[in-house]
Amino acid sequence: MNLRKIQDIDVKDKKILLRVDFNVAVEKGKVKENFKIAAVKESLDYLLNRNCKIALLSHFGRPNGKVDMEFSLAQIRNDVEEILGVKIKFVDDCIGEKVKNGLDNLIAGEILLLENVRFYSGDESNDEKFTEQLTENFDIFINDAFSVCHRDQASVTGMAKFLPSCAGFRLLEEIHEMTIIKDHPISPAIAIIGGAKIETKLPVIKFFEKKYDYILVGGKIANEALDQKIKFSKKVILPFDFVDDQLDIGPKTLEKFKEIISGAKTIVWNGPTGKFEDEKYAVSSNEILKAILVSGAYTVVGGGETLEILEKNYAMEKIDFVSTGGGAMLDYLAGNKMPGIEVLRSN
Ligand code: 3PG
Repeated sequence: MNLRKIQDIDVKDKKILLRVDFNVAVEKGKVKENFKIAAVKESLDYLLNRNCKIALLSHFGRPNGKVDMEFSLAQIRNDVEEILGVKIKFVDDCIGEKVKNGLDNLIAGEILLLENVRFYSGDESNDEKFTEQLTENFDIFINDAFSVCHRDQASVTGMAKFLPSCAGFRLLEEIHEMTIIKDHPISPAIAIIGGAKIETKLPVIKFFEKKYDYILVGGKIANEALDQKIKFSKKVILPFDFVDDQLDIGPKTLEKFKEIISGAKTIVWNGPTGKFEDEKYAVSSNEILKAILVSGAYTVVGGGETLEILEKNYAMEKIDFVSTGGGAMLDYLAGNKMPGIEVLRSN
């Protein structure tokens, strides 16, 4: 894929607007999962080493285009500073004079964290005037947030109209990994798809039916598929026994899943196979993870809940590639156009 890359643009001494995805879970004032924040470290260090003035731009939750302090990025400022190991100055706006002054007063090694871009309705509506305001203080836009590339929003797609734009290192790495598992999986290739909302997961199951050897379906979507009597090819294995009112897949299904996983060379996993928040129904998700780890298969995992399972089992570092994308990963694998990536194409 021909994309404009961070290495292709002369960034030295420039003012950079870096789109990140710091839409992370926070519990009792602490970021629950560092991963999405740490993911931009490589781009950040690269830019700092080239004397850039950098502002980080992110959304956080869905405040519906209004200022709502429950969704302020100020609450994660300290954690961002600690995770990235750089001095962060918070700006309580993402456009206008405050951003300009913040940039003017930055000293070497410091970076700005701008307030939640979704405090303005113009982000989600991709309003041109708002996009221009977002860009007016900057020389270059860099997108390092794969997990929002399925959104056609001002802070994702709008910027390329106003600024030279390119992909950051993390975005490039995500695209590279997704392309391998999408177009060149080594057989036997297995997808494990769980979680909720069968309508969003069906296109991706259909994609895997064409390319992969088995698709193991669990979680709420399996129940929905069974209820709706959706027809699949023989490659798709739906649960045939359950625990307690379909809250987890049953022991016989789990055994079958583990047997298939043990022979895999490529595994893609998105979505828990049971109601994992309740330890009693996390059995299959935990067991599947163990089976993946001993299989030796090349494994890619994505989706917020699946990452929680990895975290709980101290397995983040043991997986070949953990994607920052949840919905974005599914959209990419389903073959949907990713507007945030399309605008960065070089031809
Ligand atoms: C995510 O958490 O998947 C991304 O940050 C996208 O968030 P959104 O679904 O609110 O656009």
